[in-house]
This record gives sequence, structure tokens and C-alpha cells, in this order.
Amino acid sequence: MSYSRIIGTGGYLPEKILTNADLEAMVDTSDQWILERTGIHSRHLAAEDQDTCDLAENAARLALAAAEIEASDLDLIIVATTTPDRIFPSTACLLQARLGVHGATAFDIQAVCSGFIYALSIADKFIKTGAARRALVIGAEIFSRMVNWTDRNTCILFGDGAGAVVLEASDEPGILSTHLHADGAYKDMLTVPATVADGRLNGDGFVKMQGNEVFKFAVKVLNSVVKEILADNQLDESAIDWLVPHQANIRIINATAKKLKLPMEKVVVTVPTHGNTSAASVPLALDVAVRDGRIQRGQILLLEAVGGGFTWGAVLVKY
Ligand code: UT7
Repeated sequence: MSYSRIIGTGGYLPEKILTNADLEAMVDTSDQWILERTGIHSRHLAAEDQDTCDLAENAARLALAAAEIEASDLDLIIVATTTPDRIFPSTACLLQARLGVHGATAFDIQAVCSGFIYALSIADKFIKTGAARRALVIGAEIFSRMVNWTDRNTCILFGDGAGAVVLEASDEPGILSTHLHADGAYKDMLTVPATVADGRLNGDGFVKMQGNEVFKFAVKVLNSVVKEILADNQLDESAIDWLVPHQANIRIINATAKKLKLPMEKVVVTVPTHGNTSAASVPLALDVAVRDGRIQRGQILLLEAVGGGFTWGAVLVKY
């Protein structure tokens, strides 16, 4: 077996919707400003009694059903999250217990908005090396609990959700290539700086972001990583059937599509109704386009993301 293939996808968005009109009543902003600068008009927020594992479980069960396998068939579970339910055990272990899986490898990975791209790459390597045959890979976030709802620079951007894929070992591609990067020199540009010590949260527990700098950095590194992955696979832009980008800002998505000379009809866009769901954004977008029939078997997909760290990366998939 030399490849891993996506055999099922799932997505879950909490019921509660927060619109730009709702935000107008909370901070000094306007529907027009948010739409023009971000492309977002609404986002979903987790209910008070929901945790990240709940969101992950909903997405996971849909992905398992689509893959037509049982949770007991899994030998690897990776959850990408920045908003775990506990400091430990990992959300992947909490989810494993919910799914009734015993003994399979399970761990979280933390790469903020690039988390799913990192997790997918890691799972692909487990499968390629024979260390796993069936993997559940999830991005799940409740960012709304780390957002300062009085800070208009950040609170308009984020939403909650979870997306999942099931990967299986296969002779046929499959995931073609994965490229991951990070540069911790930018650690303060997008961060939640707080630490936990002596039983308390020390420091600021809210998202801090230098929006404009993050924007410019995101456009730059996404342009470079999509070029890099195509060059490494000796493909040109015309080979891409679908760009499935991280959903942070429609203007960042437009810039990447332009760099790839892709018409927007070939780009999966969910940011208007999802907002930025961090690690959940790429698998949620993938699931939407698989379920509505846009993404078809055999097509070439380019997934990419950038997030705090900074971290960034891309995955090329023959679906
Ligand atoms: O997954 C990675 C995570 N994050 C991102 O990718 C976010 C990347 N950054 C962005 O998406 C954009 O930088 C933002 C949407 C956050 C901001 O857009 P911008 O075009 O970069 O605006 P700006 O930060 O340069 O601010 C322009 C003006 C400022 O006013 P002054 O100083 O020109 O008077 C802000 O105070 O807009 C003001 N502003 C707002 N006005 C109304 C900032 N936030 C708001 C707001 N409503 N919510």
C-alpha cells in the first residue's frame, strides 16, 4: 500500500447563528464593513453546553457513515484543535472514548488554522509507512470562547465548527503530496498569550491579532506554498479541479485563486456563512463541496491553510 485515500468526509456546524447585524449591536462595526473587508455575513457559535469533542463527534460520525466503516475499524485518530476541552487528556482521546474505540493511536495536534493540513499530512505518513490502515482526521474548534466579544478587530472573524475525513490505505492515489512550514519568529502577530500555572490562567486569554500584518503574511506564504506544491508534483495550475482554501477572509482566498489563475468557480468558498473556524475550516469546506456534488472522484484538489505560529501548508489530493 503506497497511498492514503479519502474515503469519507463529515462536517458539523452548531445551530446558533451570529449575523453581522447581531455584531452591530455588540461592537462599533457595520454589516457593510465586515462584508467588504472579510466576505463574512454570519458564523455559527457553539451552545453553552457543547464542547469541542461534541462538535468533533458529530463530524466524525458523518465521516464514518460516508466511509461505510465502523469506528472500531480505525487505528489512528488525530484531532487538530486550538481549543481542546481539557489541558489533558487530548480531545482525540476524549473522542476515542465517545466512539468506543480502544487501543488505537490517538493524539491532538496544534497548528491553529493550519491544524487540519498538519494532521492530514501526519495521518498520510502513518498510512504510507504502514503504521496505520484507517485514520480519522478532524479539525474541531470553539474559537468563540477565546474571542474578546468587545474587540471589533477580532470578534467579527471567527466561528465554531468541526470537519472530518476518513483516510484508508490504498494502491491508488490518494494524497499526492503534503507540504508543511512554520516560522515561530512571528509568534506575537497572532496569539493567545496566556499560560496556566498554579491552577490559574496567567496573562491574556483572548485572541490578539495584528490583522493587517497577518493578512499580508497569509497572502505571501499561501502564494508560495501553492506554487511549491505544484512545482514538486510537476503540475501546472490547469491541473487543479478545486482549490479548497482556509476560510479566513474572502480577499485572501481571491488572492490565492488569482495567483493560481483559477476562476472563482473552481474555488470552494464557505467563509460567508462559516467565518473563520480555524482548524475546522478546510475539512468543513471539503465536506460541503463533496456533499453538494461539486467535488467528484478522480479530481485534483489543492487544500491550503495558514495560521498562528506562523504555520502554513498545502496538500494535493487526487480525490
Ligand atoms: O487564519 C488566519 C487568521 N486571521 C486572518 O487571516 C485575518 C487576516 N486579516 C484580515 O482578515 C484583515 O486584516 C481584517 C479583516 C482583520 C481587517 O481588515 P483590514 O483591511 O486589514 O483593516 P485594518 O486592520 O487595516 O483596519 C482598517 C480600519 C481601522 O480604522 P482606522 O485606523 O483606519 O481608522 C480599524 O480600526 O478599520 C477599522 N476596523 C473596523 N471598523 C469597523 C477594524 N475592525 C473593524 C470592524 N468594524 N470590525
